[in-house]
Amino acid sequence: MAKAQEKRMAKAQVPWWQRAVVYQIYPRSFCDANADGVGDLAGIESRLDYLAWLGVDAIWISPFFRSPMKDFGYDVSDYCDVDPVFGTLDDFDALVAAAHQRDLRVMIDWVPAHTSDQHPWFVEARASRDNPKRNWYVWRDPGPKGELPNNWRAAFLKKRAWTLDETTGQFYLHSFLAEQPDLNWNEPAVVEAMHQTLRFWLDRGVDGFRADVVHNIGKDPALPDVEERLAKIPHCALNDEDITHEHLRAIRRVLDEYDGDRAMVGEVSLLSTEQVAAYYGKGDELHLSFNFPPLFAPWEAEPWRQHIERSAAVLDPIDAWPSWVLSNHDQKRHRTRYGSEARARAAAVLLLTLRGTPFLYMGEELGLEDAVVPPERVVDPSDRDGCRAPVPWTAASDHGWGAEPWLPWPPEPEARSVETLREDPESILQLYRRLLGARRQSPALLTGSLTLLASPEGVLIWERSRDGDRRTVVLNFASQACTVELSGEQRIEVASDGCGEGEPFTGNLAADQALLLKPA
Ligand code: NOJ
Repeated sequence: MAKAQEKRMAKAQVPWWQRAVVYQIYPRSFCDANADGVGDLAGIESRLDYLAWLGVDAIWISPFFRSPMKDFGYDVSDYCDVDPVFGTLDDFDALVAAAHQRDLRVMIDWVPAHTSDQHPWFVEARASRDNPKRNWYVWRDPGPKGELPNNWRAAFLKKRAWTLDETTGQFYLHSFLAEQPDLNWNEPAVVEAMHQTLRFWLDRGVDGFRADVVHNIGKDPALPDVEERLAKIPHCALNDEDITHEHLRAIRRVLDEYDGDRAMVGEVSLLSTEQVAAYYGKGDELHLSFNFPPLFAPWEAEPWRQHIERSAAVLDPIDAWPSWVLSNHDQKRHRTRYGSEARARAAAVLLLTLRGTPFLYMGEELGLEDAVVPPERVVDPSDRDGCRAPVPWTAASDHGWGAEPWLPWPPEPEARSVETLREDPESILQLYRRLLGARRQSPALLTGSLTLLASPEGVLIWERSRDGDRRTVVLNFASQACTVELSGEQRIEVASDGCGEGEPFTGNLAADQALLLKPA
């Protein structure tokens, strides 16, 4: 495995999205420049120096387009404008320019599978059965007794994926909320209009896109029932149609019209890594795809060994570049899932030393836990407020926001603020920074091969290697100390608990500890 991986990387010129660490910004919760309690684009711009200091290479900004905010921006009512709560197109242009000045790439969130029900396309489509935009969405007649067109389930709220439009007497399909009707990509005019939305932002200089539930754009026009035993699973987790690959190849051609390696990472939230892999096509579909099965794995050595092996086994043969992610705006933060800061620190070593492009979620570098959101402050229809809590910038009582933010603070906002952790050389924030710095300087970590080595129970050891550069990572998932044997002398380059950096590795591993080692 390792030799073939090295050979492959040596041949190719490595594009930015393979070397990059991408930092996800959920804009409502990142930084608030106008003190209205909701983060904005100017706020993001004001923190670019922080991100450059931290050492990430790219940002992905979750949706900031015009939206009624039923799904906080994933219900888009205008793909080509900024929602006033986030600022203006001028703010966006300024942000891109400022990011590029700092060598930071900008990826934005493209939401191709559905619009808001307030999007003018849907407003027109639902006006009458013969409206020219009618076929831009998916409509079906009720059955003779008013039955739904099929047994598909929507994500969120445990409801069916169909809502009856009283005016025209037909059901429309929505894989998510009723306020998020699915676009009909079987209609060529939709394909063309959505390509134009890509060009709009490519022309403004974005480096790429994160494409929301992109595997859900293609639909079997027969809309067949799913097997009854699967009917409780949201249909978008099952929808895996050949036609989507044709759409992705066409989308790739749009990106290729532009110079500078514009890239797309797709959110392919299907159930297996094998299914996810298909969305890279033959190097002619997605550049990168999220692979969520590892995100759902418990914090244990064996499941992680299997995910690392499976990722290589499935992606290497098709020359597809892996991606790794532990947290995002849809899931409980991994600090909360794994249960301790020591584990969150070890997880940082894992995420930043595997083979592939890591995606960080804002605030994980602070070791943030999910906020506890009291019932009266719940705003998300699908229980995701906790991981979307605002980022505390300062130790002051407003934590740099100037107003009460739209969601409650995560636990310990003062102790976990950027200001506090930046001053503490032993903080998790400083650990992320050291890891990002070490990664940047090591060809082995950036693009080298990965080989799993023999290890005692509860421990994983892997080696990264490229052009004579070599690193070894030892990760103790267990809560007991242990010893490992490695061949050759090694020095500790980065330790998850900061202990012994620069010193020779003795073979001793503390509980929950991960070490990045360099040949001595
Ligand atoms: C996936 C996004 O990550 C999530 O936040 C959103 O609610 C759904 N797609 C629907 O767009």
